[in-house]
Amino acid sequence: MPDSYASPINASTRYCAVLGWPVRHSASPAFQNAGLAALGLNWRYLAFAVRPEHLAEVIAGARRMQFIGLNLTVPHKLLAYSMVEALDDSARRYGAVNTIRFEALNAAGEWRPLAEFEGEAAGEIRAQGFNTDAEAMVRALREDLDFTPRGATVLLLGAGGAGQVAALKLADEGVGRLWLVNRTRSKAEEVAQRLAATHPQVRVQVGYPAEPVDLVLNATSLGLRAEDALPVDTAQFPLARARLVYDMIYRPAETPLLRAARAAGCRTANGLGMLLHQGVKALEIWCGRPAPVEVMRRALREHVYGHV
Ligand code: ATR
Repeated sequence: MPDSYASPINASTRYCAVLGWPVRHSASPAFQNAGLAALGLNWRYLAFAVRPEHLAEVIAGARRMQFIGLNLTVPHKLLAYSMVEALDDSARRYGAVNTIRFEALNAAGEWRPLAEFEGEAAGEIRAQGFNTDAEAMVRALREDLDFTPRGATVLLLGAGGAGQVAALKLADEGVGRLWLVNRTRSKAEEVAQRLAATHPQVRVQVGYPAEPVDLVLNATSLGLRAEDALPVDTAQFPLARARLVYDMIYRPAETPLLRAARAAGCRTANGLGMLLHQGVKALEIWCGRPAPVEVMRRALREHVYGHV
């Protein structure tokens, strides 16, 4: 939805923003502003390039300016964890914050989102941290691939930040069997050890499966550049052994992995749905009502791919 549908900026306009370093590539302003306009909110969603060493100052400034909330992207998600006064279970669970909601005390002494306060909130304001990435992954896998983790077999590629969140979320959702592969094998082994302790019912091992799996999930950064190698060793695991392949990367729309998977007959999807749903959930956390998912989806597709 074009910006012209939004009310003009005035002294009552409220703000949200994404903070990243770098941030110029972020698609969040495009689809969040479309969502805000469709909701009829006199809010704007901005993007700021913030160096990690300045993150605490910028969060403090946004709080003082009574921003509604913030999103954090690379490299701020872990740093922000220790910069908020309250943590939602979602942030605690994954040890990372991608969404901050600013809150003030109401007349009954309860912390409530700033969106609920007419005009300026008097008194103290706190930042509460949330993580919407893990839930977004589950929603996107269901929506794009009809995949539900319970009892499923999954080969997870990558044990960095995104891979660790994915492994824990899949285990929390009752995945049946999980194989972990990472360039640095020790990181996959650490994740496997942690899961073995916390989720003994999940069969988790490091290395490639010798059998077919329901889903191959790429959480590495391989595929962002055209010249990147595949994140999977197809000599050890031919892609035809996978029913579904999901790549968390969404730009390019078809990574070398997705192309190879399609050629091997797998059903595939890229990471655009994850990006969409982490933002949809963040907007709902800020405004307290359902977000206009389809408006946001169209705006996101148009921004990233130039067509809906
Ligand atoms: P993110 O937060 O996106 O997960 P990250 O924590 O830096 O970012 O993790 C990047 C992931 O991509 C890791 O699994 C990384 O493997 P290592 O743990 O061995 O670093 C993987 N990765 C990045 N570049 C890679 C490459 N050239 N070959 C194989 N794996 C790569």
